Amino acid sequence: MSAIESVLVENRVFPPPAAAVQGARISGMEAYNALCDEAGKDFNGFWARLARENVVWNKPFTRTLDESNAPFYKWFDDGELNASANCLDKHIGTPTENKTAIIFEADDGAVTSITYKELLARVGQFANALKAQGIQKGDRVIIYMPMTVEGVIAMQACARIGATHSVVFGGFSAKALNERIIDAGAVAVITANFQMRGGKELPLKAIVDDGIAMGGCTTLRSVLVFMRTPTACAMVAGRDKTFDEALQGQSSDCAPVPVGAEHPLFILYTSGSTGKPKGVQHATGGYLLWAKLTMDWTFDIKPADVFWCTADIGWITGHTYVAYGPLAAGATQLIFEGVPTWPHAGRFWQMIEKHQVTVFYTAPTAIRSLIKAAETDEKVHPKNWNLSSLRILGSVGEPINPEAWMWYHRNVGGERCPIVDTFWQTETGGHVITPLPGATPLVPGSCTLPLPGIMAAIVDETGKDIPNGSGGMLVIKRPWPSMIRTIWGDPERFKKSYFPEEMGGTIYLAGDGAVRSEDRGYFRITGRIDDVLNVSGHRLGTMEIESALVSKTDLVAEAAVVGRPDDLTGEAVCAFVVLKRSRPTGEEAKQIANELRNWVAKEIGPIAKPKDIRFGDNLPKTRSGKIMRRLLRSIAKGEAITQDTSTLENPAILEQLAEKL
Ligand code: WT7
Repeated sequence: MSAIESVLVENRVFPPPAAAVQGARISGMEAYNALCDEAGKDFNGFWARLARENVVWNKPFTRTLDESNAPFYKWFDDGELNASANCLDKHIGTPTENKTAIIFEADDGAVTSITYKELLARVGQFANALKAQGIQKGDRVIIYMPMTVEGVIAMQACARIGATHSVVFGGFSAKALNERIIDAGAVAVITANFQMRGGKELPLKAIVDDGIAMGGCTTLRSVLVFMRTPTACAMVAGRDKTFDEALQGQSSDCAPVPVGAEHPLFILYTSGSTGKPKGVQHATGGYLLWAKLTMDWTFDIKPADVFWCTADIGWITGHTYVAYGPLAAGATQLIFEGVPTWPHAGRFWQMIEKHQVTVFYTAPTAIRSLIKAAETDEKVHPKNWNLSSLRILGSVGEPINPEAWMWYHRNVGGERCPIVDTFWQTETGGHVITPLPGATPLVPGSCTLPLPGIMAAIVDETGKDIPNGSGGMLVIKRPWPSMIRTIWGDPERFKKSYFPEEMGGTIYLAGDGAVRSEDRGYFRITGRIDDVLNVSGHRLGTMEIESALVSKTDLVAEAAVVGRPDDLTGEAVCAFVVLKRSRPTGEEAKQIANELRNWVAKEIGPIAKPKDIRFGDNLPKTRSGKIMRRLLRSIAKGEAITQDTSTLENPAILEQLAEKL
């Protein structure tokens, strides 16, 4: 049975175990329903109450939600706060100050830890170093760092002085970095000489140099380099400084700069349906509230917990559930530099045992690859480690197939830990549809119900509700505090992408298809409805990969990219390519395909490399010249073509494109 089929017939229900219900912040469905009712009756009052209870304000807000310029919603906008103060200073003078904030396990297994008080001092000192570089409130700073304590410190230090950070994942290319520096108008890049992954030393600073050398970075003044390894890297005099140089003589005292609640805390680039990534802009107040609140609601975080989110700080998950949420919640968290399969595929389980992790949050793609590893090598099966410290498991980034869910439940959770399948997006800032560990009965493969105050629904193209049991488009009908504020520098695209006119222009369109179950009204996400792919939980635009391919102008005439289901990565990238020369076959085709793969890795990053490349003399087009993507999706899946091909100009090429290399 395929994953999709098994989801459709899924009828197992797992009520929350008594131990999880007891003492949970939201304990039982009655408590969940009561919060939903509160939000339904007095929407603004509900959010105002939570914002007062969960955020430390320098200046209290008097306005909760301003809808006067919808969809440019404002939350708590006359209030002032500092995000870093809400993560660090808030704990000083409480028992949390001497608590471990971060346990760091390096790639090579070396473990260090840092308390809240120590972290505050490191952040303060780094913030002073940023100020000494002339970086001020409102400036944009690119962070291109490995998973390290220093990465979190860099983000927190920006927040502390009111600079807007934009973290670029360490796997992105020089070109991607160049585009982001320019688009954000960044004044500085914070990076490391190298990053350590799987025992290998991989360059970061050299890629920054290449990215800047591509030109156009007119706003950029300084580059700060964390020396992660002893290996030297090229330094440009007058522009580049090591962390040691920048920190020298800087005091660890730095007063947090209060900013307005709507001040942009960060910009995070993500893929959309055009070739150009979108700079998703988040505000400070609403975002911080959400990071804190969802740590409490979704993870039911308690003082004794050891929280571990495996996401990289280069993604939104690493922002909300590494850099901000756990600190705002005063939790102890584990940060891991390396990869799950090195030196062996039992590393995650070993680390859970070693650090007594209680709440573990990872992606289905990681679970699937570790299932595969455990099936081929008994020695890396989770049963070899004592995982009894765990109490809650989480999943994020893509739908989790019921098989993987059951394995996670049995072999990692010991049939004792609720699994929170959290649906959300870069744009939502944090969880929006998710089970609550002490309340929601679980159904494998379903993200269940919206958080209180999240008015999620499934609608048709006109915004009309669709009955349970039928598929449609996922929307959120009312704004929420941690929502995207705009696309950096492109408010028109913001409106067009997320608030379709046909639905009235104020309803948030998620870009996912979904269906609600007839019995419980549970949401199940069926996948993107736009030209966005989800490969191993990473978002990739098909157009982005297409433009990368056609930018190889000496070789490529035309390209179309679609996704196809993949057992391991969820979706895989499949590219159909027409070359400027005749269609290659055999060894030559393989060799050109490899050349194109490496080209895409250089243009975007290795995660965007097409798994499958097919060559044709042409692409299937309608008479009006539109590429028939639906047809390509069928071909990519290896399905027989059942669609109507009568409008197809050139039916013969379907056979060519079906040919695997
Ligand atoms: C897209 C957002 C959420 C942070 C990491 C990804 C898919 C995410 C789930 C889930 C089904 C999911 C959606 C969404 N997605 N979580 N639990 N079940 N699908 O953030 O890169 O902005 O991607 O990831 O398709 O739109 P992102």
